[in-house]
Order: sequence, then C-alpha cells, then structure tokens
Amino acid sequence: MAAIIEIKNVTKEFKVLNRREGLKGSIKDLFSRNYKTVRAVDNISMSIEQGEIVGYLGPNGAGKSTTIKMMTGVLEPTSGEILVGGNVPYKNRTRNAQEIGVVFGQRSQLWWALPLVESFRLLKDIYRISDENYESMLKLYQSLVDIEPLLHKPVRQMSLGQRTLSDILAAFLHDPKIVFLDEPTIGLDVSMKAKIRTLIHALNKEKKTTVILTTHDMGDVDALCRRIVIIDKGKMLYDNDIEHLKGFFGSYRTLKIRIDGDLEKQAEVIQKELPEFSVSSDEEWISVLVDEEKAKVLDVLSQLQKTHRIRDMQLEEISTEEVIKKIYEEGVQ
Ligand SMILES: Nc1ncnc2c1ncn2[C@@H]1O[C@H](COP(=O)(O)OP(=O)(O)OP(=O)(O)O)[C@@H](O)[C@H]1O
Ligand SMILES: [Mg+2]
Repeated sequence: MAAIIEIKNVTKEFKVLNRREGLKGSIKDLFSRNYKTVRAVDNISMSIEQGEIVGYLGPNGAGKSTTIKMMTGVLEPTSGEILVGGNVPYKNRTRNAQEIGVVFGQRSQLWWALPLVESFRLLKDIYRISDENYESMLKLYQSLVDIEPLLHKPVRQMSLGQRTLSDILAAFLHDPKIVFLDEPTIGLDVSMKAKIRTLIHALNKEKKTTVILTTHDMGDVDALCRRIVIIDKGKMLYDNDIEHLKGFFGSYRTLKIRIDGDLEKQAEVIQKELPEFSVSSDEEWISVLVDEEKAKVLDVLSQLQKTHRIRDMQLEEISTEEVIKKIYEEGVQ
C-alpha cells in the first residue's frame, strides 16, 4: 500500500533580515538590507502509513511547525517533494484541505464569536459533509466526550481546555484521512491532558485517521505514539519505534526513591552526592538515572541510604522523558 504521506529530501529556507545593532545599524538597515538565510528544515525524508500516530519531536526551533506548515500547504518547500494523500499540498490547497484536519495548540481555528455547534454547521457546509455522516460523527463525539455543555457556548467564552477539545473535534469532523496536531496539550492541566489523549486515541482507532503530533510533553508520546521522528536544527535524528530507541539505553535504570522533606531541594543534594548521574524530582519521587555500566543500582541505593532515610523505592526502565532529553543533549550515537 502506498504511504499516505511521502516526504522526500525536503528543505525549507527563510530569508531573514540581519538586523544591525544600534541606531547606526538601524539607519544602515534602512538603506542596504542585509539578509541571511535560515535553514529551518534540512533535507528531511519520511513516509507515513494510513492509520499511524507519529510523534514529531524536537527541541524549540527544531523545525517541527515549519514541516507541518509544508504538509498542510501553508508553506512551499524550498526544495524536495511532499505528497499528502496524493496531493502536492501548496499546489492543491483546496483538495488537500478535504483530506486533512489541523490543530495548532496556541490558536483556535474556530469562529470566535459563534457557539461551537454553529462552527460545526459551517464546517459541514464548507466540507460538504452529508447529513448522515454529520449525525454519525456527532453521535461518536457524544459517546467519547460530554459535548453538550460545549455545543452552545461561544468559543471565546471557553476555557483553554474546552477550546482545545473543540478544536480537535472540529478538525476530525469531516473525517479527514490525516490530522495534524501541533502541541495540542500545551498549557492544559493533567486531567484535561488525559481527556484529550483518550479522545485522540479513540478517534484514531475508530476512524483509522493518520495523526501527526508535535509535543514537548512526553506523556502525550507515551499515551499515543509508537513511532517517533526526532529532528533538531532542521535535520532528522531518528525515525523508528520509541521502544527501539530505549533499547540504545539498555544499561540505564531509573531508581526512584521516596524520602521526607522538600523533594526538589533533596534532589539537588543528591545530585551533588551523585554527580555522574542525572537526578530529578516530581511531586512524589526523586529519580536517579543510573547507567549500570558505571555503577550497580544496589550500590547507588546503599550509598544513598547512608545519608538519607529512604521510605520507599521503585526500579523502572529509562523513561521516554529521559531518553528524549538524552537524545536532545547528546544526539543518537
Ligand atoms: N516565517 C519565518 N520566517 C523566518 N524564520 C522562521 C519562520 N518560521 C520559522 N522560522 C525559523 O525556523 C526555525 C524552526 O522554527 P519552527 O517553528 O519550525 O520550530 P519548532 O520545532 O516548531 O519549535 P517549537 O518547539 O518552539 O514550536 C526557527 O529557527 C525559526 O526561527
Ligand atoms: Mg512549533
């Protein structure tokens, strides 16, 4: 079967004004503009099958949103080829729009002043959704989330979480083959994040929708993605299963301990005691990422017991969060 998204050697460059400093600089800029080229996406290739959920990851400024904008037809690549559902996105924008749905976490695609149901009706007309398909989609939505309280609320009166939820429902309404989600859980609380993840998962299962997801929240990745693509400075670093990536860190274990006191401060203390390992904390645990090629977990634990009263402990494999952090810092060896 042909891939639903084919990207071949795609590069995107932006020409940006190279501003000179100070008043003198500004005056010079007025008369002779001095441009430099930023390569936001650098020779990327990938192919994505119908029904996949792909996590498109990378640090800030890596080129993720730029790639998504090229796939949705907002930007034209400087070079290379993109086919999305058989269309060249920037050339066949209208046809491409029928096949895709888009959510940018930071801004809504919905009509600000209209109640959600009115936005849905407009989308129904724009995308020529049949009455039957529209009704069945609303039924599906009702079975997945409590949409009643949202339907009659103007988007501008919604909380960020309600708005994001609405944006996602709107993006899936015309049953597109592909949905692009650019940081859909940004700024949401823990329970809304969980709700959104469950919704995306269910829609992908039910409709076999291909989902391309960018996020900085590795909880999204754990909940939704088997395959991840990592880019940095526009270049592709990794494209495979997350489990395969974790395999590179087979000698790493996360030792989690519970002790009394302010965990953040205690984690700093422990970090000084164990400079060769990375130490972090959350609301419940202090985590030490131990490379067993350097020291056995049990030795680390008994060392910690000399100076701290450990109330509970757990041993886990390296987390997605830690793997991705290591890749950003050190690259793929
Ligand atoms: N319209 C533009 N004009 C000039 N430069 C741009 C433009 N859009 C993006 N860039 C630059 O391209 C690079 C990649 O930006 P992009 O928004 O794709 O990153 P990102 O991976 O989405 O980052 P983030 O995680 O912060 O959202 C950055 O250096 C950015 O400044
Ligand atoms: Mg972005």
